[in-house]
Amino acid sequence: MTNVQTLLKEHRTFPPVPAETLGFAKWHVGSLEEYKKLHARSIQNPEAFWAEEAQKLAWFQHWDHVLSWDAPDAKWFVNGKLNACYNCVDRHVQSGHGDSCALVWEGEPMAPRTSHPTAASKYASEPEIKRVTYRELQEQTSRVANALKHLGVKKGDVVTIYMPMVPELVIAILACARIGAAHSVIFGGFAPHAISERAMDAHSRVIITADGGYRRGEVVPLQKNVEEAVNQLANHGHIINHVLVLKRTGHEPPSTRFASGTTPANVKATSIHPPTKFHWWHDLVARVSDACPCEVMDSEDMLFLLYTSGSTGKPKGIQHTTGGYLTFVNTTARLTFNLVPDTSQMFWCSADIGWITGHSYVLYGLLMNRVPTLLFEGAPNFPDNGRFWDIIARHKVTQFYTAPTAIRTFMKWGTEWPEKYDLSSLRVLGTVGEPINPEAWIWYHENIGRKRCPIVDTYWQTETGGHVVTPLPGATPTKPGSCTLPMLGIDAAIVNEQGEELGANQGGLFCIRKPWPGMLRGVYGNRERFISNYWGRLKDPKTGTPFYFSADGARRDEDGYFWVQGRVDDVIKVSGHLLGTMEVESALVSHPAVAEAAVVGVPHEIKGSGIVAFVTLKGSWATKNPGRQPDDALRAELTSHVAKEVGALAKPDQIRFAEGLPKTRSGKIMRRLLRDVAAGVEKITQDTTTLEDFSVVAKLRADEE
Ligand code: WTA
Repeated sequence: MTNVQTLLKEHRTFPPVPAETLGFAKWHVGSLEEYKKLHARSIQNPEAFWAEEAQKLAWFQHWDHVLSWDAPDAKWFVNGKLNACYNCVDRHVQSGHGDSCALVWEGEPMAPRTSHPTAASKYASEPEIKRVTYRELQEQTSRVANALKHLGVKKGDVVTIYMPMVPELVIAILACARIGAAHSVIFGGFAPHAISERAMDAHSRVIITADGGYRRGEVVPLQKNVEEAVNQLANHGHIINHVLVLKRTGHEPPSTRFASGTTPANVKATSIHPPTKFHWWHDLVARVSDACPCEVMDSEDMLFLLYTSGSTGKPKGIQHTTGGYLTFVNTTARLTFNLVPDTSQMFWCSADIGWITGHSYVLYGLLMNRVPTLLFEGAPNFPDNGRFWDIIARHKVTQFYTAPTAIRTFMKWGTEWPEKYDLSSLRVLGTVGEPINPEAWIWYHENIGRKRCPIVDTYWQTETGGHVVTPLPGATPTKPGSCTLPMLGIDAAIVNEQGEELGANQGGLFCIRKPWPGMLRGVYGNRERFISNYWGRLKDPKTGTPFYFSADGARRDEDGYFWVQGRVDDVIKVSGHLLGTMEVESALVSHPAVAEAAVVGVPHEIKGSGIVAFVTLKGSWATKNPGRQPDDALRAELTSHVAKEVGALAKPDQIRFAEGLPKTRSGKIMRRLLRDVAAGVEKITQDTTTLEDFSVVAKLRADEE
């Protein structure tokens, strides 16, 4: 798939439709003119705009001033005091909405229908469904908050969370926020090493997990992975004091069984510290009180850490703080999806809470806006390829938010799946995570939106906290493949290396010129990386003030619409998930047979980017010390090694053995050249005169034949 080329040919536009045709009383922003006026005003005076937005939250104490900006350090709503859990939960109970539905959860159906030919239901066992009210959330988050306190967690600590998509994950996150502990959620698809690396970096001493989770009828062994991580950490002298375990599947193997408050047999004792204690969630939560006040937090106190991949092997702990993040997410969720606080809507974002999309638009943005949020466990093709459409039809989902990679998969499965279901409840469709190719956009529009629903292609990052470029559904005419125009309050631009804004259709670097409330406040424990990654490259040519650089290349067309072309650093988007090529390389070279590895992304029809790994082996099959043979058995071994070290999403699509890797004279691997080789480009386009060893290139190219 050549995204950029197809994008350049795209000229269709889709105007907004009247709000009533979709069941809304009105659009929050109802025309392009209104958007333009509001945007211009919000950029001229961002502080006034964001102060008005922040007023929509509940504050224990008003801020002294809106912004203190000492680039690249921003403080928003200085000295304001609030609590995130209070804003998501208690506030709604106090205003008389305690019994309203806060979230609906649908667990994975336990078994496919095949054994159940005559049942009205398509599942052998009905999917498990839970509806949770704000009052129940208040009670549950208070109990878990007290349980965490019982385990010694204090304000300012970091709690690591590694859980399946169950309501208790939302409760665990909110419980941390309630007592002022920062949460660090790790996607349940990651391997033990990812848990230990992140917990160590965050100085986290408590982990919340589950005995397992369901995915495609299989049990994901979450507790077992945590046990391995705890052991790895202990080997590095980092002790996890407590692990809180939710019983979800009840399928734990004997080796991982434990009595609450003890240590499972798998976890090694260390001589220097009492061993890590494991506690059953149900046991501890039943023993503590259901009353726990919300801690008064400063606007700039850390709300959470979320690790994201970078161009070095080690993931970065992106820091978000309380007042600014909540304000930004509250505003963007409301405007982008036209949320109205009541139960006439049912919002479904299919992302896992382990990613920023889940933090902002499964959890915080929806609970704050008091719109029911749907949480689902499982996969789109289990028990069959209709799972998503079945969920939308049964729960009458009004806003649906998913990733282009999912849409391309649905296209492959065919229109017969969505055709079987009543999707008339849908009002707004969203996409996130990577550029969407116009073919997929049109397919989504026709087959899911049934040509009625606006599509919001939202461009943003873990670091931006929420949407920074996106259509507003009642205001912005859309063009398939373009994320269109900046969010209110966002001063986005395409600039050259000198920071000068470029004219229409000139490709350049995506930057944000003014601070915004949802911006990251740091990379945890690594000031240098914070500055060099985001603030060191671009600055205002007149004042020298740094601009925020997203590491994406993009252009604006003659209407000012943004077209994102993709990353300009060594991270790739695989099925919408950010992955550092270095992470995969580190995993490969940790295998005893591997000498060197270089990993590049190549265009992939479904996944957006696929992973190609070039690997050299220790020893040489041409010498007396042959090492391992470069064969399919080793390929398979290396693939599962990467899955074990990083997670299944990092598995290379192709492993190519080489005798040496092409390097510049200074020893840098020539990645652009490898990308061309991997993508099968006919002619080497780069200047190769700096290549140390031309025969290496010749050899690589010969391998292709
Ligand atoms: C890419 C996900 C084009 C981009 C919310 C960005 C997109 C990275 C879009 C951040 C979009 C995200 N169009 N590209 N609508 N949305 N991206 O941190 O490269 O997982 O820098 O956040 O995803 O990925 P992250």
